[in-house]
Amino acid sequence: MATRDSLPAKTAQQMAMDGDEPPPKYIVNNTTNYTKFGALEISPPFAPVPIIDISCLLSSSKQDDQETELAKLRSALSTWGCFQAVNHGLSDSYLDNVRQVIKQFFDLPLKEKQKYFRETGSVEGYGNDMTYSENQSQDWCDRLFLRILPEDQRKLRFWPENPSNLRETIDDYTNKIKSISFVIFEAMAKSLDLEKNSFSKYFMEERDVLQGRFILYPPCPVPEQVFGLKAHSDRSGITLLLQDPGVEGLQVLNDGEWYMVPVIRDAIFVNLGDQMQIMSNGIFKSPVHRVVTNKEKGRISVAMFTEPEPTKEISPVDVLVDEKRPRVYKTVKNYAVFNHECFQKGLVALDAVKL
Ligand code: OGA
Ligand code: NI
Repeated sequence: MATRDSLPAKTAQQMAMDGDEPPPKYIVNNTTNYTKFGALEISPPFAPVPIIDISCLLSSSKQDDQETELAKLRSALSTWGCFQAVNHGLSDSYLDNVRQVIKQFFDLPLKEKQKYFRETGSVEGYGNDMTYSENQSQDWCDRLFLRILPEDQRKLRFWPENPSNLRETIDDYTNKIKSISFVIFEAMAKSLDLEKNSFSKYFMEERDVLQGRFILYPPCPVPEQVFGLKAHSDRSGITLLLQDPGVEGLQVLNDGEWYMVPVIRDAIFVNLGDQMQIMSNGIFKSPVHRVVTNKEKGRISVAMFTEPEPTKEISPVDVLVDEKRPRVYKTVKNYAVFNHECFQKGLVALDAVKL
């Protein structure tokens, strides 16, 4: 008997290759709560997402440059909740290689990829979107999802051995992403005049979690009726996303309007997650975002999510709570599980955690 989240007869990629019309489950049904953030629009206006120079955030950079960039960062995160990170130290060719290795994995025959299929009830591994309820529309994407850190929690049976350099590529990319994330966590604290480790101590310590989601959005015959990834905010602290340089798809919600995120070839798109909105007492935003598909072009993205070790309690930082800005959020721990439970009930976790 198929369970609710069992794998479909076909992955999105197979359906795209066979020229199938998306099955009814994929067609966005405007009556479900998953479209409460607005109807599917394929090409809304481009978002003027702020660009942040990571090299100016380093403590070694000139004081003036640092202050200017910190002010930009604070403004970016309190308006858009996201930015394009440039001068992060990773070269074009390095990033191309990361994307290439992921593409090579998705290009393998299904039989090979199947070895890493996720198991029922678990998110880890290769597979398609999971469905939890009858009226949840399914997303037109396939993904490989891995818990990368802490290292002793890796389930290597889900880590492809083909292409042969995939494991080491992910490993190396993880180290790079961790260093950049660390700079961003410290900069976020400094931009709010907090102790510089105020956030990093929750997200960047030895037992804290880093997850990777490597996603393929195959071409879709009816992009106006199917989401690549339905609207959501990330449950993370921050998410670092490597976009496909060849095609747009990511959209971000701002003041009730949807915008397309431009693709900047060597930039890493950074968005805040719910746990940083909570810790900043709502000063920083965890933006709702989604992905649309494209008729002709497939798209690949690489998302890295930082999260606290599950028993760590997070709550708004004391200094950010005062008479003018009363405390907005409860104390929570294991937000990953909380978020999942909310999602299943059709609730928005960030609303459920409000005082
Ligand atoms: C995500 C996400 C965006 C993308 O994985 O949470 O929002 O462009 N991905 O794939
Ligand atoms: Ni996301």
